[in-house]
Amino acid sequence: MKDIRFFNGEWFPLEMHKTKIVQKLQLVPVRRRLEAIGEAGYNTFLLKNADIFLDMLTDSGVNAMSDRQQAAMALADDSYAGSATFTRLKNACEKVFGTRYFLPAHQGRACENILTQLLVRPGNVVPTNYHFTTTKAHVVLNGGSMLEFPVEEALQTRSDHLFKGNMDLATLQSFLEENGADQVSFIRMEAGTNLIGGQPFSLSNLEGVRRICDRFNVLLILDASLLADNLHFIKSREEACKNLSIQEITRRISDLVDITYFSGRKLGCARGGGICTNREDLYLEMRELVTLYEGFLTYGGMSVREMEAIAVGLEETMDAEMINQGPQFIAYMVEELEKRGIPVVTPPGGLGCHLDATRFLDHIPQEHYPAGALAAALYLSGGIRGMERGTMSEQRDEEGNEPLADLELLRLALPRRVFTLSHVKYAIDRISWLYENRRLIGGLEFVEEPKNLRFFFGRLAPLTSWPQQLAEKFEADLGER
Ligand code: F0G
Repeated sequence: MKDIRFFNGEWFPLEMHKTKIVQKLQLVPVRRRLEAIGEAGYNTFLLKNADIFLDMLTDSGVNAMSDRQQAAMALADDSYAGSATFTRLKNACEKVFGTRYFLPAHQGRACENILTQLLVRPGNVVPTNYHFTTTKAHVVLNGGSMLEFPVEEALQTRSDHLFKGNMDLATLQSFLEENGADQVSFIRMEAGTNLIGGQPFSLSNLEGVRRICDRFNVLLILDASLLADNLHFIKSREEACKNLSIQEITRRISDLVDITYFSGRKLGCARGGGICTNREDLYLEMRELVTLYEGFLTYGGMSVREMEAIAVGLEETMDAEMINQGPQFIAYMVEELEKRGIPVVTPPGGLGCHLDATRFLDHIPQEHYPAGALAAALYLSGGIRGMERGTMSEQRDEEGNEPLADLELLRLALPRRVFTLSHVKYAIDRISWLYENRRLIGGLEFVEEPKNLRFFFGRLAPLTSWPQQLAEKFEADLGER
């Protein structure tokens, strides 16, 4: 959004796009929602779209495309090898990141598979500003482990630290001084750090990480899946960067790292992924894994139509007015909820608005999955689907012990250019009702618990009949006919 001043003094996010294609939504009544969440084993991942009004599960693969992306899709050049579409995508990556080599992969975790198979050996460690679920799973699968060195504020849900995604440089440095770098596969920086609430790192922090990498001769890898939000925050919050263009900031970031990988489902607003580097030696080694796991080097498991859309999407990411839409909607939602005393992660980050389930449901112990219970309860009260980001999203260790998550969050993602302000206002209203009635919400327990990434398809049951009671109260207060 441009710097527009409103006559009445009020600020709200103004969309710098208009709608050309719409999808009809429906809001099923609370009685049906009660049945639906039961059928889904109280896991919002298992709900059916037909039962959902606002799908705030994720921004992954569900961002709205631009007319230019749609037009580019018609130009897709389909061939097993040597397609012109690949060249266009490779060139777009080179233009944006300044990297000569591009390896296509079907999504972000496929890039992680390739990177970890190549670089992680049993007993290795991967220091990071904070882990992401699929990254950690791949590192562990290859016998390694992730070490997190976030700044102290990263795990404080209420904070005014503008860059909670920063790496704690002093801790990283002393770890390497004490242990050396022999067992370090690479250092991973995640842009728009997902699991702590879409929080950015600063450019100066990344420069600090690079200095440490140089000193200890370790590779630096950037997970750029949420780079768009991070770029917006560097531009708007980092004094030294306020006169740089988004493109300039992007190049400064990518010039600091050895490898950039991304989920095109987030970055580029289409569906796919890729790995970019200037390191020929690494490129040549990864190339073999791409052909083994993803497909030939000029499509890597992606549809060429989506590749065309990613190429345009990457270019559009360099537009400050495009990438500020998500963060501004999130800021509005966070500020409105804060005004009502509802616990949210602050400062507002990218990706989505994050409710702090630890404070929202301070009567539910972590073992009973407060963030998962809040996700089920918000679906009941509004037909809104969010994603649990707490203990349910953790994995048991070898002995079967369940680690308790650092944070219990309910993430309400705002996919880019998808929702209107009235959708956001509706969500704020339903969350407010739920907060008033929070004591009715109880805990959950697993009844079916998969070993890997259990949050995706595990099934749970409520510990009491709280969902019925909540639904009855909702019907009495606001019953939808
Ligand atoms: N890295 C980050 C930071 C991510 O947020 C994701 C996906 C991935 C890697 C994996 O990418 O899904 O294309 O395989 N995040 C999605 C989410 C799933 O909903 O936050 P993928």
